[in-house]
Formats: sequence, structure tokens, C-alpha cells
Amino acid sequence: MTASDNSKQTPGVAFVTGGRRGIGRAIAYSLADHGFDVVINDIARDESAEETLSGIRERGMKAAFVKGDIAQVDDHERLVSEAWDAFGPISCLVNNAGVQTAYRGDMLEIPVESLDRLIGVNLRGSFFLTQRLAKRMAGEPCGDPTHPKRSIIFVSTGNAVVATQGQADYCISKSGIPMMSTLYALRLAEYGIAVHEVRPGIIRTDMTADVFDKYDNWVKSGGFALPRWGEAEDIGKTVGVLAAGLLPYSTGGAFHVDGGIHIRRT
Ligand code: NAI
Repeated sequence: MTASDNSKQTPGVAFVTGGRRGIGRAIAYSLADHGFDVVINDIARDESAEETLSGIRERGMKAAFVKGDIAQVDDHERLVSEAWDAFGPISCLVNNAGVQTAYRGDMLEIPVESLDRLIGVNLRGSFFLTQRLAKRMAGEPCGDPTHPKRSIIFVSTGNAVVATQGQADYCISKSGIPMMSTLYALRLAEYGIAVHEVRPGIIRTDMTADVFDKYDNWVKSGGFALPRWGEAEDIGKTVGVLAAGLLPYSTGGAFHVDGGIHIRRT
């Protein structure tokens, strides 16, 4: 774990899982732009992770890295402790880490290991990491709970509610997040913690690189209201606004960041 020196006042400390690259990096940058010191977690500390840490520091904020696999629930106490100890109490958790299916095909043939892996990271890992961190946050002073100053944000996907044949295990593993987010919103309100779900559409990252052509054709065909690829920054900006408390009377909601893909039409 590394931390840089910086004495600038901040609205708090944010912890972003899967923050090494892609959407997680954009979220980390947006949080830094809003004045958060940022601790990122990921399974690997590589050049990409270093670039993200540098980017946070270039924005004038402190940055630290905590290596760990969120699917390893037995390791969560260490993970949370290291993140907490980096710069002090965490005021914002972003559950961004997630994995796509490596198996794309008929749901009648999905291997047990594939569904287990996806549920382990996308659902079970996020649930228990949140549980562990929420208990620590609950032990801190919160001010007026009707004006939450802290937040927990889940990055789900449109596939939490929209079925895509060929990645059924991914859809299933993400489908519990809206309920998880709603339940945590109710449970944590008394501690001044707002809980939000952000639902990305099709975002240009490493995760979508292998299906770029398929999605690119669909995007170009004008299949939805704002026919362009989503960028990681589109998600980052939304999370930044939520974490900064700019929507102070909202909790338990789902924010679509998808160019209108979710709109039902006749
Ligand atoms: P990505 O693959 O570029 O980044 C995901 C990051 O999470 C990686 O750095 C990876 O190492 C990390 N990670 C994976 N498993 C982990 C684990 N067990 N513990 C800790 N870190 C782990 O993917 P992207 O596109 O940035 O996705 C971020 C989130 O957004 C994911 O939850 C994904 O499901 C969600 N999402 C992405 C969409 C897209 O079109 N790219 C659309 C909808 C949702």
C-alpha cells in the first residue's frame, strides 16, 4: 500500500473496488475532482494501477492501493482495515469490481464454475465487503442522518434487469444488486449513509473489447436514444455527483447511465 503526502482538506475518503482501470479508474478520477482522497482496490497492482494512482495525485488528492480479491470474503477484514488506515475513516464506498462471463452461450450449458465465479465476485463479494465496511462506518459520527454525508454506491448493469441470452450467468449474478442496494439503503439510513445503484449501459472498456464489433454495429444502427458508446467517464461523473452529495434527498434509487437503452418503446 502506498500513500502520497497532501495536506489539502477533502470531503472525505473514498474506497473504489476494481479501481485499477476502466470504469473504476474514471470513478476514482471523478471522486478526486470532487475533493476525495481515494483508496483503490484491485486484484493486481500493475502499470495500469500505477497510472490510476498518479492520476488521482495529479488532481491534488491522496491515493493508496489495497491489493485483494473481493471474492475472498475471509480476506475482507484485512482489505477494509488497510483501506481505512490509509487516510482515516472512509465516507464513500464504490462497489465497482466485477467480472463478465468467460462462457458466452446457451444457458442450458453454463458450467457450475462460471456461475459460481460470477456470483462470488459480482454479488457475494460486494455484499460482504459492504457489510464489513458499513459496520465500521456505522461506528463513526454521522451528523444529521436526514441529510446524509456519506454514501455507498453499487455499479450494477442494465443486465441486472434486462435479459441477454448468451450471458445469462452474468445477468443472474448482477440481478441481486438492485435489491442489495435497496436493502442497504433502508438499513443504513439511520447512520447518514445514502445508498445508490448506478446502472451502466454499453461502456467502452477492456470488458467490452472482445464484443466490440457486435456492439459497435448495434450502436451505429441507432438502436437506442443516444446512439453512441458510453465512456467510462460517463459513469465516473454520475458516481462523483452522488458521492459529493449533490442529490441530497435521494437514496435507494437506480441511476441509468446508458444513453436510454432501458427505455421501453411500443
Ligand atoms: P474492467 O474489466 O475494465 O475493470 C474491472 C476491474 O475490476 C479490473 O481492474 C479488474 O481487475 C477488477 N476486478 C475484477 N475482479 C475483481 C476482484 N475479484 N476483486 C477486485 N478487483 C477485481 O471492467 P469495466 O468495464 O471497467 O467494469 C467495471 C464494472 O462496471 C463491473 O462491475 C462491470 O460489471 C460493470 N459494467 C460494465 C459495463 C461495460 O460495458 N463495460 C456495462 C455495465 C456494467
